[in-house]
Amino acid sequence: MLGNTFGRIFRVTTCGESYSGGFNKKEDIPKELYGGLIAIADGVPPGIRLTPAMIQAELDKRKPGQSKLDSPRKETDRVYIFSGVMEDSLTTGAPVGLVIPNVDIEEIHINQYRDYKDVVRPGHAEFTFFKKYGEYADWVGAGRASGRETAGRVAGGAVAKAILDTMGIDVIGFVVESHGIKAGPVSYELAKANYRKNELNCPDLEAAGVMIDDIMKVKDEGDTCGGIVEIIAKGVPSGLGEPVFDKLSATISHGIMSIGAIKGIEFGAGFGHAVMKGSESNDEPYYDKESGKVKFKTNNSGGFLGGISNGEEIRIRVAVKPTPTISLRQSTVNMAKLENTILQPITRRDPSLCPRIYPVCEAMVRMAILDAIYMAKGYSAVAGISEKWEKL
Ligand SMILES: Cc1cc2nc3c(=O)[nH]c(=O)nc-3n(C[C@H](O)[C@H](O)[C@H](O)COP(=O)(O)O)c2cc1C
Repeated sequence: MLGNTFGRIFRVTTCGESYSGGFNKKEDIPKELYGGLIAIADGVPPGIRLTPAMIQAELDKRKPGQSKLDSPRKETDRVYIFSGVMEDSLTTGAPVGLVIPNVDIEEIHINQYRDYKDVVRPGHAEFTFFKKYGEYADWVGAGRASGRETAGRVAGGAVAKAILDTMGIDVIGFVVESHGIKAGPVSYELAKANYRKNELNCPDLEAAGVMIDDIMKVKDEGDTCGGIVEIIAKGVPSGLGEPVFDKLSATISHGIMSIGAIKGIEFGAGFGHAVMKGSESNDEPYYDKESGKVKFKTNNSGGFLGGISNGEEIRIRVAVKPTPTISLRQSTVNMAKLENTILQPITRRDPSLCPRIYPVCEAMVRMAILDAIYMAKGYSAVAGISEKWEKL
């Protein structure tokens, strides 16, 4: 399998699957080492404060089994720092190694997958994994295509957060739509004030109640809901992003679109630009004497011009598909027998992925921004841009 590292200079590599460890239970191995997720963050500067609690706080947002909207799978998502951190919880500059054991990997759950290991579940990645890995494809809980994989990203993203915090850069994700029910406009301030105030993490508290009732109704029907997650990055300096292939908007898209179940991304007015006139779409710049900076009267661009950050809030919206596992009968194919068949899965699942995906989006956006800072700083150190232009 290729493609398990994200980033160019600040790089996070992850490994681990949904039920890894379930086949590795032996008396001479401590159960934390049966299997699970590993994240290695490379490019961490020395002297950054990093404690297990800081990483745990991010993982706890994503972990399953916290509310009626999550999968009932009981994973503690306990993180252990294995390397790169020494006395007083300060990084040494060495790669930071993080381990998150899988603990809820009982035979009963593995056998639920064994019973239909050759049958592709509609909406899941099994068909394409069979195409690429044949009969060796991981059949327990979707392997690397499982949402469980994203715990490694969140751990890596927590390392990026520790570094971005020292620069005053804040990234916040929240839910703005579920199954067609929309929240009102959400400012950065409202998102901060109401962060995680309900199970869906929707800052419009009234709309959240309606969304949650609707999700529970759909769940009772054996079905699942899609939705929209929004992410704001505040305090991002202008000038991040390298034309042409490593524009910051492009590397953020790369990170976001690599998360399972995300089907679309837009920045600022996004697809809304398609129905605008140029005079409506353009964000007019002005010179703000007080700050000595060029600012913009509106932010339809979502914080970018030419894919480079323009100093405004970065605003991202992502479309999350409904959880593919549903309780309803669906037709599909048995890949071993090459027979059409019917499937009615009984495995654990989330009725909506939105409340578990926003922390993963935060993590990917943080990694992309931090990586872009390294690239921009490295480039400007050599390119020698005069201070007059750089400080705008
Ligand atoms: C955090 C997270 C949790 C997920 N949990 C589940 C789940 O419980 N059940 C499920 O069917 N899919 C779940 N998924 C979605 C599948 O992983 C994903 O839809 C599948 O791998 C197919 O990939 P695609 O939707 O990108 O095509 C989850 C995804 C994420 C990011």
